[in-house]
Amino acid sequence: MKVMSVVGARPNFIKLAPLSKEVRKKFDEVVAHTGQHYDYEMDRLFFEQLGLPDPDYHLGVGSGTHGHQTGEMLKKIEEVLISEKPDLAIVFGDTNSTLAGALAAVKLHIPVAHVEAGLRSYDKRMPEEINRILTDHCSDLLFCPTERAVDNLKREGITEGVYLTGDVMVDAISQNIKIAEETSDILRELGIKPKDYFLATVHRAENTDTFNRLKNIVDAFCEIENLIFPCHPRTEKFLRRYGLWDRLRKDVGIIKPVGYLDMLVLEKNAKKIITDSGGVQKEAYIFKVPCVTLRETTEWIETVEDGWNVLVGADKEKILKAVREFEPNKDSYGHRFGDGRASEKIAVIVEGYLGGGP
Ligand code: UD1
Ligand code: UDP
Repeated sequence: MKVMSVVGARPNFIKLAPLSKEVRKKFDEVVAHTGQHYDYEMDRLFFEQLGLPDPDYHLGVGSGTHGHQTGEMLKKIEEVLISEKPDLAIVFGDTNSTLAGALAAVKLHIPVAHVEAGLRSYDKRMPEEINRILTDHCSDLLFCPTERAVDNLKREGITEGVYLTGDVMVDAISQNIKIAEETSDILRELGIKPKDYFLATVHRAENTDTFNRLKNIVDAFCEIENLIFPCHPRTEKFLRRYGLWDRLRKDVGIIKPVGYLDMLVLEKNAKKIITDSGGVQKEAYIFKVPCVTLRETTEWIETVEDGWNVLVGADKEKILKAVREFEPNKDSYGHRFGDGRASEKIAVIVEGYLGGGP
């Protein structure tokens, strides 16, 4: 039996890593990389650090508008699916690569497995929300990280093929945190001490592409002492376009995006994390680091309910108040994202579904 995993963006690579190990124990796996992310720090670095096999197909799609990018992916993934004829396509998360992979496969009557199914922010202006909904609605196997994700699907009438497995990102952390702590030199390189700095990431389109929101975030960041900011290329592009880059660079420790191992160390040792990333909100919770989220909604609502995450949008005063005053509810912590064995569970379910090994 053969499965084809479709990836393209940084968070896809991180989710692929633990699952690929389990899948390869049971099946032939072909990996197709759409090329959505391509800078060394957004792409190759993750394959090197996570010991991921080189993709079998690199589709080289690159950047573009949603329609153009997703359309190019759809065409090229379809060609690979036709020649490889996998028994199952696996897609991860909520990027354009996820949707393109799911759509290309389902139209060829190849079953689709969605890893990280059932997440909802209930904000359809987010491209990721559209990608999640459409991917879930054309998937045959839906691997949910949380109970809430299962309930979200139920509300949309999806009950068949739904499995609560836990989150593969917990697997990735538990497999890599020790290696990260033993090998990463990032704190020394940046001259920072544990629990003596804040860590920020920003890349959501709704924050980067709107001048006022990005300016408010920059205004807040300039007033936060000891802030480390690994900057996503999308954000750098808009900071430069809006004339905000030099100002931010004067006050804030802007660095290039870091590799996964450095990121885990930076997150675990931060005083607080300020982010609009889905994965980083979850990692903050897992490391028990208070999180200030630069959004009005989140698909990881459990982190807010448990009192470890606060939603502040792009309002300068709210950001600064939360950075200075937000304290987590230390008594309320639910281990909501699984036990670090999600990938193993997913591979077993896939084996049952496909009815046998290689
Ligand atoms: C994408 C995903 C988002 C995910 C994020 C993870 C979609 C719709 N969005 O957003 O859900 O959270 O990845 O990081 O799929 N760029 C580079 N080099 C790169 C990649 C991007 O310079 O290697 C720049 C380009 O100017 C590009 C822009 O970043 O136009 C946006 O890239 P894109 O992949 O379209 O979306 P992300 O913002 O990265
Ligand atoms: N990440 C990383 N280096 C960085 C920023 C993020 O390794 O400079 C990791 C982070 O630890 C998490 C994942 O990338 O595992 C999250 O991806 P991202 O924020 O790009 O996307 P999202 O999760 O919002 O889709």
